[in-house]
Amino acid sequence: MQEAENRAAPSPSHDAAAGRMFAVAWGFLIATGVFGVLLRLQVVAPMPGVSYGNILHAHSHTAFLGWVFNAFFALAYLVFVDERERKPFIWLFVWLQAATVGMLVAYPLQGYGAASLSFTTMHMAGAVFFAVRLWRRSPAAPATRIYLRAALIFMLVSGAGPIALGPLAVMDLRDAPAYDLAIYWYLHFQYNGWFIFFLVALLAHYLRHQAGAARALRRAFPYLAAGVALTFALSVLWVTNAPWVYALCIAGAAAQLAGCAIGGRGVWAVRREWGIPGTIPAALLTTAAAAFILKCTMQLAAALPALYNLAVHHYTVIGFLHWIFLVVVSPALVGIGATRGWLAAGRRLHAGLLLWLVGVASSQFALFYPPIATNLALPHLPNLMQFLLIAAALMLLGIIAIAPVGSAAPHAVSDSA
Ligand code: HEM
Repeated sequence: MQEAENRAAPSPSHDAAAGRMFAVAWGFLIATGVFGVLLRLQVVAPMPGVSYGNILHAHSHTAFLGWVFNAFFALAYLVFVDERERKPFIWLFVWLQAATVGMLVAYPLQGYGAASLSFTTMHMAGAVFFAVRLWRRSPAAPATRIYLRAALIFMLVSGAGPIALGPLAVMDLRDAPAYDLAIYWYLHFQYNGWFIFFLVALLAHYLRHQAGAARALRRAFPYLAAGVALTFALSVLWVTNAPWVYALCIAGAAAQLAGCAIGGRGVWAVRREWGIPGTIPAALLTTAAAAFILKCTMQLAAALPALYNLAVHHYTVIGFLHWIFLVVVSPALVGIGATRGWLAAGRRLHAGLLLWLVGVASSQFALFYPPIATNLALPHLPNLMQFLLIAAALMLLGIIAIAPVGSAAPHAVSDSA
């Protein structure tokens, strides 16, 4: 095991290569933000010839595959890939970028069409290769291995959604619930499964020498994994709110909370050993963890029949999704990127984070308040769309301010300490 660890220990050039991959991911996050602003602008001041639907597809594909997938790739490359495997992974990264840039151009122009679907398929093929390679080279530490393997399985399982869209469209079922459910299937197993389990695999990796934390994470695994499978029922609620669907939602949300409690206690117990360098990364990683617990609590609340209208409201759904993307996953990635010196530092980091924070907080407030106001007969916000546009612009400015500048400089954190 020690020999394997030594092989996987990052050299400065390995760290710099991972930093460059992270910088590419950051470029796609900027593109995601630009598409987000365009979406809000399209509602406030529609531009002729620009299709909201096409931009939405471009936004979500760039966000998932350009930002999150690439950032995970950079971290997987840094932490899990040993020196014998590095070359194929670099080529795989190049292949994936060709697919992602293709999607970035094709989706705004044609939405779902021949070119965009070809690039998506090209990415899927690369993702399968990535999953198989990483599976074979999975780390020895049991807690890391189970979370990493589960993350890869969820990533592959999510792909069944987009694959089903073609046959459903051919069967003229674009307006049927099955079509939307296939999209939700993809989203659900991506953000609840792939995203979260990969981040927990990284956490387990960093804490692998803390026996108590590793044991707690292993004990939490069945609860968290069952929670992912069962909470897909939340996406079915808008099709049928039959009692069995509610029962699955409640069981899933409770399982996830139990997993959080078991894993969280073990991780908290070794907080003195975390050794996160710097207050900003520590604050970002703590925010991500707290936001994840709050997300599981929101899921339990959404499973209460009394809150049905609130849970299925379009704004609540968009707010909930962006809570995970912008308050759980992205802060965790920014926190890790900052510890490695992959992002702007000093005043630019502070200013960027402030803009991001104000943008995210205002946008989340503006999305969650209207459904609550409707339910409680409270006054509505004036100029909501303009407010959302300004919030989106602040987030974009924040992301641009934090962008990596110059060459990625390896930092203080040791992966294999
Ligand atoms: C950077 C700032 C971001 C802004 C300003 C933004 C803005 C938006 C907007 C305006 C929509 C359309 C909402 C609607 O039609 O009502 C949207 C949808 C979406 N966004 Fe974002 N977003 C951002 C970041 C992200 C990130 C980081 C992710 C994922 C990692 C993401 C994933 C999605 C997805 C999947 C949808 C489609 C949801 C659906 O159709 O149900 N967004 N976003």
